[in-house]
This record gives sequence, C-alpha cells and structure tokens, in this order.
Amino acid sequence: MLTTIVVLSAILSAASASASTTSLSFTGLQSLVERRIPQHASSFNFDIINGTGDSFTVSDSSSEAGGINISCTTLSACARGLYTYCTEVGNVDIWWTGSRLHEIATPLPKVGAPIHGSSIVPWRYHFNTVTFGYTTAFWSFDKWELLLDWLALRGVNLPLAWVGYEKILIDVFHEVGLTDDEIFDFLSGPAFLPWNRFGNIQSSWGGSLPMQWVTDQFNLQKNQILPRMLELGITPILPAFTGFVPRAMTTHFPNASIVNGSQWTGFPTELTNDTFLEPFDPLFAQMQKSFILKQQAAYGNITHFYTLDQYNENNPFSGNLTYLSSIGSGTIASLRQADPDATWVLQSWLFFQGEDFWSLERIQAYLGSVPNDAMLILDLYAEAYPQWSRTNSYFGKPWVWCQLHDYGGNFGMEGNLHEITHGPVDALHVENGSMVGMGLTMEGQELGNEVVYDALLDQAWSEEPMDILKYVKKRAARRYTVESLPPAVNRAWEILGSTIYNNSDPTTQVTTRSVVEMSPGMGLSDSIFFIGINFTRVPYDTNTTIVPAIHLLLNASETTPSLGNNPEFVFDVTEVSRQLLANRFLDKYNDLIAVWNSTSTTSADILTLGSSMVAILEDLDALLYTNENYLFSTWIADAKQWGKGNASYESYLEYQARNQITLWGPTAGLIDDYAGKQWAGLVGEYYLKRWETRKWGEEEGEIWGTRGDVWQIVKRIVTLWT
Ligand SMILES: *[C@@H]1O[C@H](CO)[C@@H](O)[C@H](O)[C@H]1NC(C)=O
Ligand SMILES: *[C@@H]1O[C@H](CO)[C@@H](O)[C@H](O)[C@H]1NC(C)=O
Ligand SMILES: *[C@@H]1O[C@H](CO)[C@@H](O)[C@H](O)[C@H]1NC(C)=O
Ligand SMILES: *[C@@H]1O[C@H](CO)[C@@H](O)[C@H](O)[C@H]1NC(C)=O
Ligand SMILES: *[C@@H]1O[C@H](CO)[C@@H](O)[C@H](O)[C@H]1NC(C)=O
Ligand SMILES: *[C@@H]1O[C@H](CO)[C@@H](O)[C@H](O)[C@H]1NC(C)=O
Ligand SMILES: *[C@@H]1O[C@H](CO)[C@@H](O)[C@H](O)[C@H]1NC(C)=O
Ligand SMILES: *[C@@H]1O[C@H](CO)[C@@H](O)[C@H](O)[C@H]1NC(C)=O
Ligand SMILES: *[C@@H]1O[C@H](CO)[C@@H](O)[C@H](O)[C@H]1NC(C)=O
Ligand SMILES: *[C@@H]1O[C@H](CO)[C@@H](O)[C@H](O)[C@H]1NC(C)=O
Ligand SMILES: *[C@@H]1O[C@H](CO)[C@@H](O)[C@H](O)[C@H]1NC(C)=O
Ligand SMILES: *[C@@H]1O[C@H](CO)[C@@H](O)[C@H](O)[C@H]1NC(C)=O
Repeated sequence: MLTTIVVLSAILSAASASASTTSLSFTGLQSLVERRIPQHASSFNFDIINGTGDSFTVSDSSSEAGGINISCTTLSACARGLYTYCTEVGNVDIWWTGSRLHEIATPLPKVGAPIHGSSIVPWRYHFNTVTFGYTTAFWSFDKWELLLDWLALRGVNLPLAWVGYEKILIDVFHEVGLTDDEIFDFLSGPAFLPWNRFGNIQSSWGGSLPMQWVTDQFNLQKNQILPRMLELGITPILPAFTGFVPRAMTTHFPNASIVNGSQWTGFPTELTNDTFLEPFDPLFAQMQKSFILKQQAAYGNITHFYTLDQYNENNPFSGNLTYLSSIGSGTIASLRQADPDATWVLQSWLFFQGEDFWSLERIQAYLGSVPNDAMLILDLYAEAYPQWSRTNSYFGKPWVWCQLHDYGGNFGMEGNLHEITHGPVDALHVENGSMVGMGLTMEGQELGNEVVYDALLDQAWSEEPMDILKYVKKRAARRYTVESLPPAVNRAWEILGSTIYNNSDPTTQVTTRSVVEMSPGMGLSDSIFFIGINFTRVPYDTNTTIVPAIHLLLNASETTPSLGNNPEFVFDVTEVSRQLLANRFLDKYNDLIAVWNSTSTTSADILTLGSSMVAILEDLDALLYTNENYLFSTWIADAKQWGKGNASYESYLEYQARNQITLWGPTAGLIDDYAGKQWAGLVGEYYLKRWETRKWGEEEGEIWGTRGDVWQIVKRIVTLWT
C-alpha cells in the first residue's frame, strides 16, 4: 500500500513538475485561439492558479471589455477549460474532420455560473507506435496541427512523438563505426518504420530509405511538432535506443551480446528476425547514452518519458527468468544513467498477443527488475482484454487505461461505450491499484468512429461513468450545429449508441474488416487474422440498427435542410451508408457461397448474386467519391508531397503508400489487406476489379473518379438496400 502511494505521488508530481517547467506562458493557447477562433482572439484570459492535479474554472470576466476567464492548475487544464467553454457553452467542437470552433456565436455566449472541471487521472495519453505508420506516415504539418489542437483541447498531455527517430539513430550507428550501407540495409521504408522501430522487420523493399526522408521528418519533429506540443502543455514521450541494430553489428563487435529476435508474420529471415543488442551489454548502455544526449541536444531537455518496446510481437531470446530480469534491469539502468529521471514507457500488447510466452512469473521477472517509479505501462486493449487485472496492476507499476479499438485503420463502425465509460472509473478505484492515466492506442485513427475516442477522453474528466445515451445526443447537438436539432437525429444516435457503439462482447471488439477489402475466396466471413478474433463478423443486426439510423438521418435532412450544409452531418450520413453497403456486400457474399455449394446451383444464380455484389461496390465507390474524407488520392498525394517534384522519389513514396494498404510487404500472401481501406478509387479500381475477375484485363477506368451528389446516391442506396 505504502509503495503504491509513493509511486503514485512520484508520478503525480512528475505531472505537475512537467507542467511547471513549460507553464506560465499562455502564448501557445493564445495562438490556438487565434488559429481556431480568430474573431475572438483577444477575448480569452488565462491564468494559472495553485492546486494539485489538472483542474480549471471557466467564468465570465466582469471587466469592462467582457470576455471569458479560464483559470487552471496546468496548461493542459487550461486547454481543457477552453474546450469545455467551446463545447458546453458555445456548442461548437473540433473534429478529426475539421475544426468548427470558429462557428461560435458573436458576442461570445455568457458562462453564467462558473464551470469547474478536474481530470480524474494525471495523464491523458494518445497514439500507438503503429499509428505513425497507418495514419500519420505522410502527414505534413497542417494535418499535425489539427490533431495537436484536437489533443490539447481534449486535455491530452502525454502523447508519443516518434517522428524523425531515424536521424539520431543513424548518428549513433555511425558513431560505433557502422557504414551507411550497413545502416540503410537495416532501416525500413517510410510506410513501415513503426515495425522496424519495434524490431519486427528490417530492411526495405522497393528501394532503401532515402536520407531526404530522414532529414525532412527530423525537421518536422524538431521545428514544428515538438515546439507545438510544448506550447500547448503537452509532454512528448520520445524514443530511445531500443537495441535493434543492423546485422553488421556482429562483425564490428564480435564479442558483444547480440541475438536474433523471432520471426514476424511469416516474413523471410532477411526481412525479420531483427538483430538485438542485449541491454546488459555495456555497448547497449553506451549507445543509449549517446542516443539520449544527442536527442537532448537536438530538442532540449523537454521530457523524461521514453517509449521502448523490445518484445512487441517478438518473443525474447530466452524465457529464463534470470535472463528476462537482466533485460529489464539493463534497460532501465541504461536510460537512467543517461537521464536520471527517465521513465520507461511500455506498450503491454506483448502480454496479450504473446500470452503463451508471457506467463505471470516471466512478466514479473521482466517488470520486477525495474523500480516501480521508473516505468509507465500502457494497458493497450483495456476495453476488451485488459492485462492489469491478471498481473495485479502490473505488480504495482503505474499504468494507463487505453482503448485500442482499431486495427490497421480498418473502417467498420464499432464501439464499447459502456466499458470505456465504466472500465476506467472502476479500475481507478481498485484496492491497491496503480492506474494513473487514460488514453487512446488505436492502430489507425479512423474517422468514422470518432465518437468512442471522444468519449474516453471526456470520461477522463468525469468522476462518474457518463450516461452514454445522454452523451451521444449532447455530442450530436454540437456536432451538427443547427438551431434546433430534429428529434430524428437523437433517435438515430440512441439506436447507434445502444447497439453498434455498445458492443460488450470482447470477441468482436475490433473494427470490422469488410470482405469488400479481402481477396475473393471461400470462408471469408469466418476470418480470424490473428489474436483469435473474427474480424469480419458483423456483431449486430443491420436491419434494426444501420437501416433505421439511415432513414432517421435522411428524414432529418428533409425536415431541417440546413443540416445538409454541415460537414459532419454529411460525413455521418455517408459513413452510415458506407456501412450499410459493406454489410449488404457480406450478405450477398454469404448467399453466393451458399448457392455455390448447393447441388442445384445454376450459372444464372451465380450471375445474379455476382451482379448484385458488383453493383454494391459501384455504389460504394460513387458514395465515397462524394466526400473528401474518403479519397484514396489524398493518401497518395500526402505521400508524394515529400518528393517535392523529384519524380523518382515521388514514385518510391507512392509505392510505399500503395504497398502498405494492399500487399503489406514485398510479396502477397502474408498480411495482405491488413490495412485495407474503403476509399474512393481503391474500392472501384482495386477491390471491385478483384471481385469482378471476369473483367480482368479490360481497359482500366479513370483512376481519379468524379464527385456525384451525395443525396442522390444515398437515396438510391436506401431504396435498393434497406
Ligand atoms: C492491499 O495492500 C495491503 C497492504 O499491502 C494488503 O494488506 C491488502 O491485502 C491489499 N489488498 C488487495 C486487494 O490486494
Ligand atoms: C502558490 O503557491 C506558492 C508556493 O506554495 C506560493 O508561493 C504562491 O504565493 C501561491 N500563489 C497563489 C496565487 O496563491
Ligand atoms: C478574471 O476576471 C476578473 C474580473 O472579473 C479579473 O479581475 C481577473 O483578472 C480575470 N482573470 C483573468 C485570468 O484574466
Ligand atoms: C573478443 O574476445 C576475445 C577473447 O576474449 C579476444 O581475444 C578478442 O580480442 C576480443 N575481440 C574484440 C573485438 O574485442
Ligand atoms: C541472425 O541471422 C542471420 C541470418 O540468418 C545470421 O547470419 C546470423 O548469424 C544470426 N545472428 C545471430 C547472432 O544469431
Ligand atoms: C527466426 O525466428 C524464428 C522464430 O520465430 C526462428 O525459428 C528462426 O531460427 C530465426 N531465424 C534466425 C536466422 O534467427
Ligand atoms: C540536459 O540535461 C543534462 C543533464 O541531464 C545536461 O547535461 C544537458 O546540458 C542538458 N541539455 C540541454 C540542451 O539543456
Ligand atoms: C537461467 O539462467 C541462469 C544464469 O545464466 C542460470 O544460472 C540458470 O540455471 C538458468 N535457469 C534455468 C531454469 O535454465
Ligand atoms: C450497454 O451495454 C451494457 C453492458 O451490456 C448494458 O448494461 C447497458 O444497459 C447498455 N446501455 C445501453 C444504452 O444500451
Ligand atoms: C465468424 O463470423 C461468421 C459470420 O458472422 C460466423 O459464421 C462464424 O461462425 C464466426 N466465427 C467465429 C470463430 O466466431
Ligand atoms: C434484413 O433486411 C433484408 C432486406 O429487407 C432482408 O432481405 C433480410 O432477410 C433481413 N435480415 C434479417 C436478419 O432480418
Ligand atoms: C461451402 O463449401 C466449403 C468447401 O467444401 C466449406 O468449407 C464451407 O463450409 C461451405 N460453406 C457453406 C456456407 O456452406
């Protein structure tokens, strides 16, 4: 009990200490107001007050000039105070699809009775290492800016910051004598760096990583991302030296303790079995120190948090308890001799995905060798398969309750609002528990399910579990910003909130992968890709969820035509229609398989079903083309922008972008379509062509399609498929 309290207070004081070093300047928040609500740039007054934790008070200023006063104990709390004013009083919000904060009324609405808020946890966390591949790989700063404002306003104060990692890593490799050839033989391409950082893969396909990429990413991190995080009251979690090294390390250091990691996802040995310098070797400590000092020199001493995963989908060389313990103690010793206040941040995914290896005694040997106050564990998939409960709160280590939710940036509508509102609150009150944060660890930030990400970050500021039906309706009111929201909209959200977004069955808690995105074949509706979960199962009845929701939203658009001008309303109608088509495609697929298997099948039966499937995909593609958020061409353009007009570099980047979402590797057959997307162009030109094999070889269609009228297309879909 005593140890727990000491550790928690250390972590709590770390939270306020980090704030006080960056605090007292509201320049970053004032700039945010100028960016997002320029017409009221001078109307918000911020002020730091004494107090523990993160709390704020929002009130009307009684000064002559009027305006809004926001007092807070930390910068992050002030950002949350500003957000609370915008959402609760101003009825506007900032979304992954864009900021609508500038739509707040003039004059600014009065607060009335002051509003107080406090976070229930010191840390609000964001990102999964792989989000830097599936979502942000090719982002320029304008996209980062929107997300960083989104994070700051929602009160996130501890995100990962992986961008540009390779620059310093390469410097450290040079320092120990590795050549460029040896180093670049190890690094992966821009779309695949997260798995190289995890030690899952090495080397590249389609050409080696250009130094231009490394430099551009480093500059993005150093000049834009990190300064912006700091001015918004956000403490970045920076990378460290992980121990994964080029193969040639063994030739340069024949006596060093170097082993090969395990094979990942069936990749051939030259692309996986990454070479690992063991942390108890003095060379590891030397490289760690060099890495951290170089990083401090580049970015300043801006954090004590370091992300470091050695065994993510990569089993240790030995299960010997002494061995595991020496890995843990060597790693933390290396971090602390470089930064005496270092906290090692670990994703706990290994204990779920590698459960066969990670017995409790092995977990205890590995974690137990690290002092409790030197570690922060991300319980990665807490909404479905929490690990803190089987490890007795990681034997006392501070940990963060995280929602994983999305795999590969897949699209299916899905959520577990009940668990994400109750689970963290319950875990916080467990006797002798050590939970210190809440956060989001999605593999890909998929726009259509934003509601479940909003909900967890809002729950971090509420002592009691939120009432989910009230929550989704209140959210709809500020999402659709019309004078008076038609009751049909509330009804639609009540249905979604109590069904699709309230799925409490852990075995289906993943964003559904539609068979649309899969290579045609038998048995697709029973697809278990990994972790024993059926990714293609639709765990709800479309006819009593999606169908009434779409009718209600269409009805609302008719009674309140101004809804048609609201980008988030149009997006949501498109999203629900997209899901309807994906589910109908699965129905038709199942019918086709059943017919195919039947002894009385005729070719006419097959053709009828096949034509329906083709028709659905044609409609799906046309639907997606109506909305800028669903364009495949955006992913490609984002990748190519870094080529800055150099044609061969652009085509390398385009290959990277296309490869990740399709073959995911140099050859087909391993994890094809893992990161599949229902994007306009990709559906019509790739998935449709694959399904429509009889048309293979015919002339290719337009790559970049044309934009139709969303209402015309949705009405056709509703007529045909509801
Ligand atoms: C909490 O810790 C105290 C002191 O170590 C111990 O007596 C008690 O059994 C623990 N409770 C639980 C539920 O583990
Ligand atoms: C805040 O606390 C510090 C130290 O405890 C004290 O010196 C300072 O006067 C306090 N400030 C306010 C505004 O209360
Ligand atoms: C808040 O408003 C009061 C007047 O009501 C003013 O005296 C005070 O300085 C303001 N605080 C901030 C943070 O601007
Ligand atoms: C490796 O160890 C052997 C035997 O101890 C020694 O002879 C050799 O010099 C060492 N090599 C290096 C590069 O340190
Ligand atoms: C790792 O694998 C490579 C490729 O098969 C092999 O050449 C090398 O000897 C292995 N290294 C160690 C330390 O086992
Ligand atoms: C690669 O890892 C697998 C275990 O996952 C192992 O069987 C194999 O021997 C490893 N290969 C090398 C070259 O290390
Ligand atoms: C960062 O802190 C270290 C001590 O941990 C110090 O030696 C170094 O000079 C600092 N670097 C910067 C850039 O402030
Ligand atoms: C684990 O490794 C240690 C140190 O190398 C050794 O003494 C011990 O016998 C090993 N334990 C087992 C079960 O192999
Ligand atoms: C959500 O699911 C939980 C657990 O199954 C259930 O207790 C709760 O009533 C549901 N809430 C709604 C609004 O459907
Ligand atoms: C996967 O989902 C399909 C379609 O709903 C179902 O038929 C199948 O039994 C499921 N498989 C498992 C293992 O849950
Ligand atoms: C759902 O509705 C469709 C279209 O009306 C119908 O064909 C299908 O049988 C219904 N499915 C269920 C499970 O009720
Ligand atoms: C169809 O036949 C295949 C191969 O015989 C079998 O694996 C599958 O379960 C059958 N599916 C249906 C839906 O009957």
